[in-house]
Amino acid sequence: MKDIKFFKRQQVPLEKHKARVIQALELKDIDERKKVMEEAGFNTFLLKNKDVFLDMLTDSGVNALSDFQLAAMMFADDAYAGSRTFDRFEAKCQDIFGMPFVLPAHQGRACENIIAQTFVKPGDVTIMNYHFTTTKAHIMINGGSVIEALIPEGLEIESEHPFKGNMDLERLEEEIKNNESVAFVRMEAGTNLIGGQPFSLENIKGVSKICKENNIPLVLDASLLTDNLYFIKVREEACKDMSIREITREIANQCDIIYFSARKLGSARGGAILLRDHDVFVSMQSLVTLYEGFLTYGGMSIKDMEAVTVGLEEAMTLDMVEQGPIFIEAMVDRLKEAGVPVVTPAGGLGCHIDATKFLEHIPQEQYRSAALSAAFYMVSGIRGMERGTFSEERNEDGSEHFASMELLRLALPRRVFTLSHIEFCVDRMIWLWENRHLVGGLEFEYEPKILRFFTGRCKPIGDWAENLVKKFKEDLPDSF
Ligand SMILES: Cc1ncc(COP(=O)(O)O)c(C=O)c1O
Repeated sequence: MKDIKFFKRQQVPLEKHKARVIQALELKDIDERKKVMEEAGFNTFLLKNKDVFLDMLTDSGVNALSDFQLAAMMFADDAYAGSRTFDRFEAKCQDIFGMPFVLPAHQGRACENIIAQTFVKPGDVTIMNYHFTTTKAHIMINGGSVIEALIPEGLEIESEHPFKGNMDLERLEEEIKNNESVAFVRMEAGTNLIGGQPFSLENIKGVSKICKENNIPLVLDASLLTDNLYFIKVREEACKDMSIREITREIANQCDIIYFSARKLGSARGGAILLRDHDVFVSMQSLVTLYEGFLTYGGMSIKDMEAVTVGLEEAMTLDMVEQGPIFIEAMVDRLKEAGVPVVTPAGGLGCHIDATKFLEHIPQEQYRSAALSAAFYMVSGIRGMERGTFSEERNEDGSEHFASMELLRLALPRRVFTLSHIEFCVDRMIWLWENRHLVGGLEFEYEPKILRFFTGRCKPIGDWAENLVKKFKEDLPDSF
């Protein structure tokens, strides 16, 4: 899309697809939005989709399907065991990633459960560029712990570094030296919790070399691989003439195990673990049959497995992998221009607002990024996701574990939103930025012990929600 230049009009992201099936949207008025936010305990996960105008919660399972994916679903060979659909899925994974063994699972965290149960013993550590919520929970539940060895730039909100998801190779070597039992090293593509930031091909090659020297398996979380592929293609000089497929294979060549959520990669629903080692494959098979289902569906619907097979092939094209990042870049540029604090450079998955700067008057223990998510829904009808302290597990002694970054993530599921949606989103965010002093903190009313951000419920501290609604009505009396 970037290679199509506009003549006189401003250059904007141009879709290389068109909508053929649509879903109607409704924007409720602000009083209703406040009411449903209260009912949802100020947690955007607990909103009903019927009350949401633009759903920017996640890209998981909500990327748009292509016509070929939809058509492929009709070919699904619905068999419990040995379906042709699985053969096609397995062959596609082998073809793209070059790994001989394929295990299906119902989603990404199911792969994490199986990998953690296979490798992590009590007292083990795992070293990674950065953790993801469900990954860390599975490692901890098996008695292990997580060490993050991200480069320091990765945690800078504003940076020029093109690969903020890189592992700090010196730190990795040091941690391997200092820890007796390293279960595995994990690289996460399109690092989710730091703003969808990529690693470079050069960096994963360095990580792989260190892992091999120390005989430690390297595991790749490829859930957000598409965005990472795009950034390698456009930001890594040595890769600019490589195809997306070649970059993918080069990354895969560095790894012992790859897993992915096909709710993201593959643009349908499911997951898979790909392996080189036959013994590990066999030991994981019994966990797949125990937790997921038979080895040729692993908890996935067969129709979705067909759609994933086509989705993986589509993910090997530049048109597909660049759509998300260039829309995100457009959104980031517009917000930056208006002075709204955002993570830069623009990453994948979504646009990430810096809640620390946005709501610096709210103490971190009052969950400023969760407050920002709730406030933004109330003033826009747009649902984003908190990615900060509210998404962290408490320390073992019950004290708060403060996140290194407090972000509101506005995800752009691939091929779903148009530029007018982005303009509306930016407009409402600018309104909130100009009225940010009205937003206050949150406190828990119900706090689950594990993954509290999914189902936890909060209430606002003070009457800031009322004040926010009142000011919105004054400023935009004729608008939803
Ligand atoms: C990087 C990463 N890994 C793993 C997962 C877990 O995948 P799933 O939601 O399919 O369980 C996610 C989901 O958001 C993710 O972003």
